[in-house]
Amino acid sequence: MKLSVIGAGYVGLTTAACLAQVGHDVFCSESDVEKLAKLQDGVMPLFEPHLEDVIKSVRKAGRLCFGSTEEAIAWGDAIFICVGTPPLPNGDADLSAIEGVARSIAKGAKGYRLVIEKSTVPVQTGGQLQKHLSVHSKNGLSYDVASNPEFLREGSSVEDFLHPDRIVIGVDSPRAEGVLRKIYEPIINQRFTCPIHLCCPKRKEPVFLATDTNSAELIKHASNSFLAMKISFINMVANLCEVVGADVTKVAQGMGLDPRVGPAFLNPGIGFGGFCFPKDVQAFIRIAEKSGCDFSLLKEVEKINQGRVELFIEKIRKELWVVRGKKIAVWGLAFKPNTDDVRFAPALEIGRMLLAEGAIIRAYDPEAMERAKMVLPEIICCADPYEAAEGADAVLLLTEWTEFRNVEWSRHATQVVRPLIRVGRNALPAQELASHGFEYIGIGGVSASRQMAESPLISI
Ligand code: UDX
Repeated sequence: MKLSVIGAGYVGLTTAACLAQVGHDVFCSESDVEKLAKLQDGVMPLFEPHLEDVIKSVRKAGRLCFGSTEEAIAWGDAIFICVGTPPLPNGDADLSAIEGVARSIAKGAKGYRLVIEKSTVPVQTGGQLQKHLSVHSKNGLSYDVASNPEFLREGSSVEDFLHPDRIVIGVDSPRAEGVLRKIYEPIINQRFTCPIHLCCPKRKEPVFLATDTNSAELIKHASNSFLAMKISFINMVANLCEVVGADVTKVAQGMGLDPRVGPAFLNPGIGFGGFCFPKDVQAFIRIAEKSGCDFSLLKEVEKINQGRVELFIEKIRKELWVVRGKKIAVWGLAFKPNTDDVRFAPALEIGRMLLAEGAIIRAYDPEAMERAKMVLPEIICCADPYEAAEGADAVLLLTEWTEFRNVEWSRHATQVVRPLIRVGRNALPAQELASHGFEYIGIGGVSASRQMAESPLISI
């Protein structure tokens, strides 16, 4: 099928590349001219595992092109809108980019188009979009509008797109449902050449869930807000564990064994970041407020998350006594591993606050340093974790990249002034660190002494 994707951010680029990978002919547009030029020259504007290889291969096969919005609108029978919906100062999602695309479609389309919102939008946006297209359409063309929320995680977006748990569509006509089924057919049946696995791991075929547009839009916001709630919940449990002398990793393990709870998203830390959770929780609060529903539960989720960084800094202040002039190594700047994205990254917020208190920050991140340096030019970027830790009074692990688990602790121990490791995410071998003389402080009562004292796990 001939498909168009408007917007080449993490979502748009992954959508365009993967739809081409499963056999469609895709035109992807980008309004940022510098970014577009990069894409046309074969240069990746962002880091995302597997994406570069997929793009190279589908471009070589002639199934993916990059160009302007107008060209994209003229190309596809179905148009995926993947533009940004950043937060406004009052927490509402800014839908001006979506409105702009709708105007361009109404002006430029020459035949029937299925317009699919993939950007995360407040409930009832589909209805507005439909109205807007009709009002601005000059040539009496018919449009269908559908919602197709994306559930991709940065860092594993290609895998998530090709091997999803579910594909949700919100449609108000059988025609729109038919087109979307046809688009996703290779993924629903898991019949395509997988660029990640030689032989894909056995898993269930994705559920294809068709709802009305409003419900599909709500599924996205409700899912992200629920996951954010799980994280804030476990972060509060972690606080409690520290006070009463329990270990949060064991508590989370015990909770997660109940299939009604599930083990995912129970890792405590310095809070959730990235471009989705913080803005989606805010937007969902606003949607509820505007609809007259009291969703103050989510306000607590947000408040708990906002308190994580301050709590972490407070602990550092206590340990270092005086922060001014101290050399602090920061391991990890991205909002999570396997991405170069630093938007709303708790690590950057911690760096910013420590710099403001007079600390010297020597940082290392495998992918995010270039972007982090643009936001916080005062940080000293280092070539590896060892260089960052040279002469350090404390090492802070703030993003759990695998690379940090493989550090040679004996080599590292000789470089620091004080062997103090405080983790923002429980991701290092506490016992091994202690055996090399490190003072290791985890989140939620995780410490080397506790790990050593523990009896082996008993499973029933
Ligand atoms: C999220 C959703 O998972 C995805 O479905 C949606 O499409 C986009 O938003 P993403 O922002 O890429 O994806 O990251 P995710 O893996 O969900 O993590 C979000 C944040 O929560 C990160 O800062 C992460 O470190 C934090 N997190 C996650 C925790 O603090 N604890 C956890 O247990 C899990």
